[in-house]
Amino acid sequence: MMEHITGDEDRVREEMVRIPGFVIRRYRPEDRDEARRILAGGLTGLAWPAFRSAIMVPSNFGLLLAACGAVHALTASPVCTATAFLALLALVYLACRGPFTGYVRETLKGDMADIARHYLSAPGCCFWVAEEEEGGAVTGGRGGGRLAGIVAAKAEPADRPTACHLYRLSVDPRCRGRGLARGLTQVVLDFARDGGFRLCALATTSVQQPALRLYQRMGFQLVGTEPVSLGFLSRLSQIDICYLEKRIELAPG
Ligand SMILES: CC(C)(COP(=O)(O)OP(=O)(O)OC[C@H]1O[C@@H](n2cnc3c(N)ncnc32)[C@H](O)[C@@H]1OP(=O)(O)O)[C@@H](O)C(=O)NCCC(=O)NCCS
Repeated sequence: MMEHITGDEDRVREEMVRIPGFVIRRYRPEDRDEARRILAGGLTGLAWPAFRSAIMVPSNFGLLLAACGAVHALTASPVCTATAFLALLALVYLACRGPFTGYVRETLKGDMADIARHYLSAPGCCFWVAEEEEGGAVTGGRGGGRLAGIVAAKAEPADRPTACHLYRLSVDPRCRGRGLARGLTQVVLDFARDGGFRLCALATTSVQQPALRLYQRMGFQLVGTEPVSLGFLSRLSQIDICYLEKRIELAPG
């Protein structure tokens, strides 16, 4: 259940949304470091799930076995075979980590370096942060404290926008599983609808199963996939980019 509330006098006057345990409000400049921390933590944390799913892919599993078998046949040495096995596992791990660390680097140097300029200076864009509520008090209440989650919206293409895109959804690990991502996604859908958009679009990856499940439970449809292609090593990761869209019913009247 979402309740729209208005900030008190101490706060910048702005609309806020309260969901159980959290308050979602517009980004302020003092939130920058926390917003960047939550984004980076959310994405780099995906390397392990990506690695786990990559080694279960039959072609990678087969490659590991074949390579270790070949080393064993050539050397007849258990130490060499075990070393080759560990080296190949490390290679697959690097292949899985690379796309996420690269993306984090790019994003932190890009829109997340100047969030206000990218998301708060043009119509059709916005950036929200969530704060946790403990015993009725908001942690990090005056900005600059620990944030619980972030999300952004951007109308694109910039010259003739046709859809509102959801970006940068991430929830701090300590606040997951409590409905915050659902609340943040709903804020973007409401923003898109209020802006007259009929479509909300986003991209995620096949590794982000919690995110895929969230979006599909909220009515987004998968409209396309393409492999992450950052060279041969990244293909070992077997990660696909997934494109999702949701049609938005305009408010009556
Ligand atoms: C994906 C993410 C945002 C979910 O945040 P969250 O606050 O824990 O999610 P919620 O509690 O709002 O859960 C909403 C729905 O998401 C899905 N979900 C969330 N966590 C899940 C998990 N671990 N496994 C499977 N589904 C999950 C469920 O469908 C859930 O609804 P349900 O419990 O009614 O089935 C969070 O795990 C995260 O920040 N991950 C890393 C960054 C990321 O992948 N961001 C998405 C960018 S596209």
